[in-house]
Amino acid sequence: MIVFIGGGNIAEAIFTKIPPSEIIVIEHNETRINYLTNKYPDLKIYRSLDQTTHKDDLIVLAIKPQSAKEACLNIANKISTSNVLSVMAGINTATLASWLNNDKISRAMPNTPGTLNMGVTGLYFSDKIQDEIRVKITDLFKNIGLTYVFDNEDSINKITAVASSAPAYVFYFIESLIDSAIKNFNFSEAEAKEITLQVVKGSLAMLEKNPDLPIATLRNNVTSKGGTTAAAIDIFEEHKVKELISQAELACYNRALELGDILDQ
Ligand SMILES: NC(=O)c1ccc[n+]([C@@H]2O[C@H](COP(=O)([O-])OP(=O)(O)OC[C@H]3O[C@@H](n4cnc5c(N)ncnc54)[C@H](OP(=O)(O)O)[C@@H]3O)[C@@H](O)[C@H]2O)c1
Repeated sequence: MIVFIGGGNIAEAIFTKIPPSEIIVIEHNETRINYLTNKYPDLKIYRSLDQTTHKDDLIVLAIKPQSAKEACLNIANKISTSNVLSVMAGINTATLASWLNNDKISRAMPNTPGTLNMGVTGLYFSDKIQDEIRVKITDLFKNIGLTYVFDNEDSINKITAVASSAPAYVFYFIESLIDSAIKNFNFSEAEAKEITLQVVKGSLAMLEKNPDLPIATLRNNVTSKGGTTAAAIDIFEEHKVKELISQAELACYNRALELGDILDQ
């Protein structure tokens, strides 16, 4: 049995591919319980870990880092012999081991496109994790997308910046394209969204169809010198958009480190 503590977005991305008979979700938010009950009628959902019995389960910690210490201290005596997998950003295995009095801790850093089997996950296993559990956890994430196993824990913070938080960066860019089409050119919201999504899907399809072509070549192919596209790209260059994106990813990585430090107290 796999027990999820927290049944939010990321738990859902992971458990959609597991048969409901093999999982239990511990969730205390009524709105979320209603949503999960409606969407997954066969799922076993409890409000507290006290309502279930289990000894050798895999426990997945899928709550916000800010709620983690209290939640861990509350359940520590019930899961001191279980394998624990944290999907939480920032909090490292040593901190979790001290809160839970249990050193069988693994970490996973997935992302929400996993819900559509298009996820990216980074995994890290502490020394105490047996091979059988490593395989079980790795298979869980291979089911929902690309999976990378790291031998150093800091790579979990790096994949947080590069993949786990990255769908939000992509959504932000797409939102900006839609907003501009509405604001500058008076397209209706529906038209602006339809046009922009087609552009994004078409561009991605071109990238996938030409895997060996540098992305810059595809971009240059539609950017004649002195032309209309060049006028737009010049603005990106003038405002150093690539540098901004680099700074944003570094800020994300640094926040993961910071969260680890703040919460490790
Ligand atoms: N979202 C992502 O893309 C992503 C990617 C990688 C990793 N992560 C990590 O995944 C973790 C969860 O993120 P999320 O986006 O899934 O958060 P979320 O949607 O807020 O889900 C957490 C759920 O757990 C509930 N909860 C909190 N404490 C609980 C407890 N002690 N017992 C039972 N239920 C509890 C929360 O209810 P209340 O809100 O009412 O407390 C909430 O419904 C975070 O640590 C984040 O760093 C997220």
